[in-house]
Amino acid sequence: TGHTSLDYGFVNTASTKSSITYIDGDQGILRYRGYPIEQLAQHSTYLEVAWLLLYGELPTADELAGWDEKIRRHTLLHEDLKHFFSALPHTAHPMSVLSAATAALSTYYEGQSDPHNPEHVELNTIRMLAKLPVIAAYAHKKSIGHAFLYPDNSLSFVDNFLKLNFGNNAEPYEINPVMSRALERLLILHADHEQNASTSTVRLVGSTGANQFSSISAGINALYGPLHGGANEAVLDMLGRIRDSGESVQRFVERVKNKEDGVKLMGFGHRVYKNYDPRAKLVKESADEVLRELGVEDPLLALANELEEIALSDDYFKERRLYPNVDFYTGVIYKAMGFPTRMFTPLFAIGRLPGWLAHWREMQNDPQTKIGRPQQLYTGAGERDYPTAH
Ligand code: CMC
Repeated sequence: TGHTSLDYGFVNTASTKSSITYIDGDQGILRYRGYPIEQLAQHSTYLEVAWLLLYGELPTADELAGWDEKIRRHTLLHEDLKHFFSALPHTAHPMSVLSAATAALSTYYEGQSDPHNPEHVELNTIRMLAKLPVIAAYAHKKSIGHAFLYPDNSLSFVDNFLKLNFGNNAEPYEINPVMSRALERLLILHADHEQNASTSTVRLVGSTGANQFSSISAGINALYGPLHGGANEAVLDMLGRIRDSGESVQRFVERVKNKEDGVKLMGFGHRVYKNYDPRAKLVKESADEVLRELGVEDPLLALANELEEIALSDDYFKERRLYPNVDFYTGVIYKAMGFPTRMFTPLFAIGRLPGWLAHWREMQNDPQTKIGRPQQLYTGAGERDYPTAH
């Protein structure tokens, strides 16, 4: 129609109103429900932030205790779902396993997944928060040929997850408080980011009336891409390649600037942040601290620091206002904790899950919601007749 305007990548088009997360890209501000990310990262927990995003206010102590208890009670996967993992190759990327298993979860809750039934929505919110980390940990265990552990519901959310990943059935698991706190902080920093590609995907799929499992599974697939959540894995691959090739950082940056082979500086640039990404600032501070506290020395951290320094003083990056984003330093921390590179994006997915769920619910409850259906500007052939004699 004459009213359709073209906006590749939705750079200028708002698709919804939202009261969940506020971002000011020029000033580097990020707030969940009004609370600055810096304060939440310092004082809050993942489950408290999940409540905040979903319900709009911080929970009381009793509400938080009840919430924590409910999520602990739903960590078990149906035993049959474990066979799902055996059907996949051990080389399967954990992100593919995570999205497929999340979609498969819905098959256990048919008849309990009506988007318009508040009890179903509440229960499936809790189920997903409880079970996604278990699925991700099993994808990890499967990839290294280890047995799955049952969740240990005496542990906190984060410790339970760490034990499922790094514990084994032969030895008692020792909690490492440095690791627990670092992971808690990272999950908080990832918990929401308003209408990013995966959240918009969750909303779009949800706008068709699809249930939460299908919508979240679609969000996981959107997050998998290297321009989005997959960037954390891509950063570590890039650093490893630079180290192994013996190429100087300066030379690598030149190749990025010349757009040789489409090579980009992964972990740099953001659609919204044009001065700095407040999450990246916090992650960078954590990276130094966590590596020191865990007693890990990683030459890739030094390489990342060098790369950042060179890029930040270069006109190409200055003119385009490209700064490190949240994904630039997270991988170094995940690696120090012992996660394989392919688990980095699943960690992002667990972090982002509360945001996806909150947006899905906000969309369902918004009377103005309609099925998402963008327009196009047609550029193809005009009408022509099918050749009947040929
Ligand atoms: N390395 C080199 N050049 C870049 C980069 C980069 N990482 N990012 C943007 N540019 C250039 C781009 O080529 C363009 O240059 P020109 O004007 O000469 O064509 C200019 O900067 C503007 O970039 P754009 O592609 O129009 O920006 P966008 O808003 O469409 O893309 C982005 C944002 C995040 C997809 C992009 O910066 C990028 O691909 N970064 C690398 C991948 C990455 O780190 N993604 C994680 C994003 S943050 C967390 C998350 O969402 O998961």
